[in-house]
Amino acid sequence: MSDQIDRVLVCIPTYNERDNLPLVVRRIRAAVPGADVLVLDDSSPDGTGDVADELASADPQVNVLHRPAKQGLGMAYLAGFRWGLDRGYDALVEMDADGSHQPEQLQRLLDALERADLVIGSRWVKGGSVVNWPLHRKALSVGGNLYTRALLGMPVHDATAGYRAYRADALRAMGLEQVASQGYCFQVDLTRRAVRLGLRVVEVPITFVEREIGDSKMSGDIMRESLQRITVWGVHHRADQLRGLSQRREPTWHEL
Ligand code: GDD
Ligand code: MN
Repeated sequence: MSDQIDRVLVCIPTYNERDNLPLVVRRIRAAVPGADVLVLDDSSPDGTGDVADELASADPQVNVLHRPAKQGLGMAYLAGFRWGLDRGYDALVEMDADGSHQPEQLQRLLDALERADLVIGSRWVKGGSVVNWPLHRKALSVGGNLYTRALLGMPVHDATAGYRAYRADALRAMGLEQVASQGYCFQVDLTRRAVRLGLRVVEVPITFVEREIGDSKMSGDIMRESLQRITVWGVHHRADQLRGLSQRREPTWHEL
């Protein structure tokens, strides 16, 4: 893998983020002026797509992908990654539009990517934190991560985190064509692919600040999809481990 990271693309999925988008784009452009931005809008009814077009026409480093309908965070990112990989970016970043992922901490993720394939901006490592989350949201994130760890046994503390930086080569190796996760379990899906490939996954602490404008798109459907998929992945993972154990046998004398 080539080590140099020159061209960075920050992918931002949006659904009804009209008032948040200009703020976050301005902060990214100020914090890391070399990074390009790609907005992935699912035809938001509130006109976020038009706001994105205005931002793009005023700044050649801002781009927009208009998608026909709300198809979930995972599908939006897959389209964005394909766009960026086709255009030769070295690193692809995931960032929410609502200000929860602070652009001022992006350089921290990019610095860590010098020696990693996937950097996760983590709320649940030493130095990481969450500001203004209600208790039930904290419980959901901690519980989701505990469940994920119990089933998948990954050495990651915040596998559901949505602030990340990937090396392009790492994404190319992950088999993105096979990713079926539509909602937020996309994050766990890609983490699991990276770990299984033996890629270097590093967590850096971030401060996640709950949005002040607009509403979360977290829903019962998103939670159900996550629970189902993580359970299926976990069962397969544990079955693979058992198969590995049962196939291990004592060496015969001439192998000693
Ligand atoms: N294009 C598109 N399509 N964007 C979407 C969709 C969709 O179907 N659903 C959500 N988004 C966008 C939102 O507009 C926002 O920019 C970002 O995805 C995150 O959505 P939120 O609804 O603000 O997520 P959250 O704050 O509840 O969840 C956060 O925590 C999750 C669990 O840790 C995010 O950081 C998630 O990425 C994370 O998995
Ligand atoms: Mn949010």
